Amino acid sequence: MISYIEEIKQLKKEKNAIILAHFYQPKEIQDIADYLGDSLKLAQVAVEAKADILVFCGVHFMAETAKILNPKKKVLLPVLEAGCLMADMITESDLKKYRLSHPNTKIITYVNSTASTKAESDCICTSTNALKIIKHYTDKGEAILYCPDQNLAKYAMKQGNLSFDAWKGCCPIHHDLDRNEVLNKKKEYPEALVLAHPECQLNILELADYVGSTKQLLDYVIKSPKDTFIICTEEGVIHAMEKACPEKNFILASTSLLCPSMKYTTLKDVYTCLAKETNEIIVSEEVSKRAKLALEEMLKLS
Ligand code: 13P
Ligand code: SF4
Repeated sequence: MISYIEEIKQLKKEKNAIILAHFYQPKEIQDIADYLGDSLKLAQVAVEAKADILVFCGVHFMAETAKILNPKKKVLLPVLEAGCLMADMITESDLKKYRLSHPNTKIITYVNSTASTKAESDCICTSTNALKIIKHYTDKGEAILYCPDQNLAKYAMKQGNLSFDAWKGCCPIHHDLDRNEVLNKKKEYPEALVLAHPECQLNILELADYVGSTKQLLDYVIKSPKDTFIICTEEGVIHAMEKACPEKNFILASTSLLCPSMKYTTLKDVYTCLAKETNEIIVSEEVSKRAKLALEEMLKLS
């Protein structure tokens, strides 16, 4: 039987390719990644990448972001159907309409968005830097629209004591996490700390001892003197946590915390797209140019 792991290693050498993977990817994909990270870290890796081919194991907007930031590289997404439910909750034409009625408002768009939505934005942000970027504009007295994640918007408003327009999108996987499930887990593990991603609703974030991006949650468990954690984000991150801290316990707040698109990627898909150089991400030059400006603004402010 073909050993996909060995074949992938060989192909990477032959073709000068690297594999980038998000923390929500299946375990075996995380384990073959050259770079594992959250949206911000993977975007930064993409900018610096010297390889000829970037195989992006994640969802469509992540691979698109890598292509926009480093357009000369060939960026491959092993499963082209791997989309993000939140990214589809706002479109370029929604933002064009909004701009017409709010010509002086700065549009800050979460990285979980399509390239054409990014192209209509003034600045992009991720879960790592959202509050910092929002404050950069509100401190200057600018009116802003934050899109598409209403939960990250509400969290930033609360954290920064701010008020601004927010789109009504969300990540259904995080948004639907039931507060009672988290409360029950807290009862069952009274010594545990609760860690949450800011895409959860405020009624979950209120229960959290720490809120952060996937990478920030991982860094937190590594540094913490505690040994039991209730995790309120997609289950994939627990693999990275268990690898980094094998002696600690990680309890998923709910079995519903599973992003189907993130689990599409198989080793065979990675092997096939690299062997045949298929599933290439293409972004039109016109969209790419404008989206890049908004992404570079984020990287400058991060
Ligand atoms: P991070 O940037 O925190 O990894 O989040 C990405 C994402 O899709 C969360 O649902
Ligand atoms: Fe999109 Fe939610 Fe999946 Fe993240 S977990 S990729 S926001 S659908």
